[in-house]
Amino acid sequence: MHSRIIGTGSYLPAKTLTNLDLEKIVDTSHDWIVSRSGIHERHIAAEGEMTSDLALHASRRAIEAAGVSADAIDLIIVATTSPDKMFPSTACILQDKLGIKNCGAAFDMQAVCGGFVYALNTADLYIRGGQAKTALVVGAEVLTRMLDWNDRTTCVLFGDGAGAVVLQASKTPGIIASKLHADGRHQGMLKADGIIHHGEVQGDPFIKMDGQAVFKFAVKVLSEVVEEVLEENKLLGSDIDWLIPHQANIRIMEATAKKLGLSMDNVIVTVATHGNTSAASIPLALDTAVRDGRIKAGQNILLEAVGGGFTWGAVLIRW
Ligand code: UT7
Repeated sequence: MHSRIIGTGSYLPAKTLTNLDLEKIVDTSHDWIVSRSGIHERHIAAEGEMTSDLALHASRRAIEAAGVSADAIDLIIVATTSPDKMFPSTACILQDKLGIKNCGAAFDMQAVCGGFVYALNTADLYIRGGQAKTALVVGAEVLTRMLDWNDRTTCVLFGDGAGAVVLQASKTPGIIASKLHADGRHQGMLKADGIIHHGEVQGDPFIKMDGQAVFKFAVKVLSEVVEEVLEENKLLGSDIDWLIPHQANIRIMEATAKKLGLSMDNVIVTVATHGNTSAASIPLALDTAVRDGRIKAGQNILLEAVGGGFTWGAVLIRW
């Protein structure tokens, strides 16, 4: 048994924040942000708009595209680092909003920007193990609520959004291979330390990042993991039709494409208008390229991501 993506969907909040808007609130410039990251604008969730709301819109679109009934879904995984509440999980809240009464399992996956590849791999294993038939896998974030708008080293980089896929049991792959990694020794490079303790926030609740260290680490481990997946499956970079990287920085994406010998024409890039939406960035980019017709049946698609933890991984898909 294999698993195959049979529908995709995504959602971006209505409000956008441009680099020019940011120039008015923090000491930065459009030119700096574009030259260092490739970002022009990002979407910001409205007051009261929760991760599960973004996930709901994306999920409905994915379910509609898949042509299945919501009740057919027997596994929900939401990759998020900005859940609605401490508990219950955003996945259970999403399940309720979708009106799915009985589901095999529903849970959140917390691997920061690596979350979607972790979640997709997990859903694939559930399906291949016979424990689920139709999985809803979502990446959804309102990470901008964890930003210190006085910290120009982080606040210009992130955006909100959600992307979803419906993954179904299939006789043919589908998902060909996944490779995940984690190394907690690097936990301090990208973090939000704050916790709730006796009803009070304790520690710094804002995102802190050693940008240069993350940049170097990302280029290294992403190049390694994409080569690892290709080698194990006896494929070359030239066999990949579309590389869909986590959308954090155009320069990191260019470095990985170069390592694979791929032209940027084979890379799906949405960072300019989405910013870094953490776990949502890959399913947002995937849905964009599915809907505009770039991704076609029979093509080889390679997803890759790296995020706080550190976590990283790649998923190889035959569309
Ligand atoms: O999603 C998880 C993965 N996250 C990432 O992949 C992010 C990885 N890191 C990066 O993308 C890049 O490191 C950044 C885009 C965050 C920063 O780019 P950089 O080329 O590494 O810049 P830098 O941190 O070395 O900073 C260069 C200069 C510094 O000034 P000095 O010390 O040279 O005078 C910074 O203070 O740019 C300054 N700077 C800014 N200037 C204007 C930092 N942030 C800003 C800003 N606007 N927003």
